[in-house]
Amino acid sequence: MKILLLGKNGQVGWELQRSLAPLGNVIALDRHSSQLCGDLCRLDDLADTVRQTQPDVIVNAAAYTAVDKAESEPDLARTLNALAPEVLAREAAKLGAWLVHYSTDYVFGGGGDAPWREDDPTFPMNVYGQTKLLGEHMIDWICPRHLIFRTSWVYAARGGNFAKTMLRLAQEREQLKVINDQFGAPTGAELIADITAHAIRQVFQNRADDKTLAGIYHLVASGCTTWFEYAKHVLAQAQEVQPALTLMAREVTPVPTSDFPTAATRPYNSRLDTRKLQAAFGLTLPDWQLGVDRMLAETL
Ligand SMILES: NC(=O)c1ccc[n+]([C@@H]2O[C@H](COP(=O)([O-])OP(=O)(O)OC[C@H]3O[C@@H](n4cnc5c(N)ncnc54)[C@H](OP(=O)(O)O)[C@@H]3O)[C@@H](O)[C@H]2O)c1
Repeated sequence: MKILLLGKNGQVGWELQRSLAPLGNVIALDRHSSQLCGDLCRLDDLADTVRQTQPDVIVNAAAYTAVDKAESEPDLARTLNALAPEVLAREAAKLGAWLVHYSTDYVFGGGGDAPWREDDPTFPMNVYGQTKLLGEHMIDWICPRHLIFRTSWVYAARGGNFAKTMLRLAQEREQLKVINDQFGAPTGAELIADITAHAIRQVFQNRADDKTLAGIYHLVASGCTTWFEYAKHVLAQAQEVQPALTLMAREVTPVPTSDFPTAATRPYNSRLDTRKLQAAFGLTLPDWQLGVDRMLAETL
């Protein structure tokens, strides 16, 4: 199997380099790759890359992920999150290849407290969410063989993320204030990458031309927390793993979202219902703490 991986150095892309390797020949690119174009802004060159490599599967882990900055760079966010996926979908459809892509809990409006199902109405509250939703639509309209995984609150040993920011701040400040009214599940890039590889394998075991598994799936770790509870868990676990670590923060205070005005509005309810994924691919998603604890044990 030949796999074209885009965004190889992002949190998820880095883990995909590992998890996809046993499936076959992985051509992994980032935006700086020289022989083949992996830059999602260069749409014509991106199409050429697919034509030249003729993959069986394209895995797109590249994206515009700066949620607040997207409010002031909507065109760039749209190019990366919607127009580039459109190009990939068109080229994949021409080849009869599969396109694997990632989307976000931010396609939902964020009300209520029930976990969102895949077919619930979408209502993105910010530019990032709008562009990611448009990307989903493009793929869905153009490329029948697709897997779109919506995930949330991604962390990894490599790259910047909330858990690492909390650890750094706790070493610098005596008091931390953390939002306690947004609910979701921290999800490890390792888990996302492993499940991606499993899903690709299953799709090809079924027969590559069988589209019954195609569609959108929610892929998050099990359980639910708030940023505040997540931060408390990270700090307690860090102290246990590394007793010599000096944490200045004596107090972590829960605060409402309104205490932290940001350029982009964020949903309160980021819970995603994963039953469709678990049933379709015969998987059990582990509790969110498992991956966070492993990441901390590896990085501290
Ligand atoms: N992070 C989250 O909390 C989160 C939540 C929900 C969904 N998701 C989705 O999950 C997927 C993976 O996210 P992630 O956390 O792995 O993001 P990430 O760590 O920010 O990685 C995104 C990658 O895209 C690359 N990129 C940016 N501009 C590019 C361009 N013009 N051409 C090619 N590559 C470009 C970045 O490269 P540089 O490093 O060179 O900038 C980076 O390697 C994305 O689709 C994202 O929308 C993420």
